[in-house]
Amino acid sequence: MTDWIQRWKDNKIGWHRDDPNSKLIEFVSCLQLNTGDTVFVPLCGKSKDMIYLAQQGYKVIGVELSALAAEQFFTDNKIAYQVSQEEDFKIYASENITIYSGDFFKLTRQHLVIVEAVYDRAALIALPAGLRVKYAQHLYSIIVKGCRILLLTLNYPQSKISGPPYAVNKDEVASLYNDGFECQLLQCFNDIKNEPKFQRENVDFIEKATYCLRKY
Ligand SMILES: C[S@@+](CC[C@H](N)C(=O)[O-])C[C@H]1O[C@@H](n2cnc3c(N)ncnc32)[C@H](O)[C@@H]1O
Repeated sequence: MTDWIQRWKDNKIGWHRDDPNSKLIEFVSCLQLNTGDTVFVPLCGKSKDMIYLAQQGYKVIGVELSALAAEQFFTDNKIAYQVSQEEDFKIYASENITIYSGDFFKLTRQHLVIVEAVYDRAALIALPAGLRVKYAQHLYSIIVKGCRILLLTLNYPQSKISGPPYAVNKDEVASLYNDGFECQLLQCFNDIKNEPKFQRENVDFIEKATYCLRKY
């Protein structure tokens, strides 16, 4: 099991990018958001995607196990924030972005009543198989009907490299989000030419897929 808290302490955060994700920019419209709507970012790290979403006029709620990540998010981006404590979470809040520091699985429907959409980049695929089932079930239980999810996944031969990120193929996404969701595959392509780490391990494909889901 990945020790995420330790990875943040050791600054081993190879997934972090300094620019917003190009697939978020390309497909954010599928979330059908209006100015002032709120987007939930599970397992958010200190993702710049939260800055991008706030710049588009949306409010953001993230959840992140590591308090260090939450602190770094606000200090790196020079955003003033306040800290408060509730039972299971330390809450870092600025005007438009709130990060619940604690365990995603302790988040309840009450935390997300105002959430219109979810953005999942490197959250589902950060978790091993058993936990992915629990993650999809918990996500279903805490979001409201009509909520849309923009989901980015990777698929590659898992036998060649161990995760995270874990390989999650189309069949698994269909099975995880089978009950209670409409699921649309927006894009899927092999991006091995841009993945030297995977090439070094003789992996011959890494499929990057983008889905839009809607809870009904
Ligand atoms: C691969 S990183 C992705 C971070 C972010 N989504 C991004 O794109 O930069 C996964 C993050 O999930 C956090 N995490 C793992 N398990 C968690 C849990 N149960 N609850 C909240 N955060 C968790 C880790 O600390 C880590 O920052």
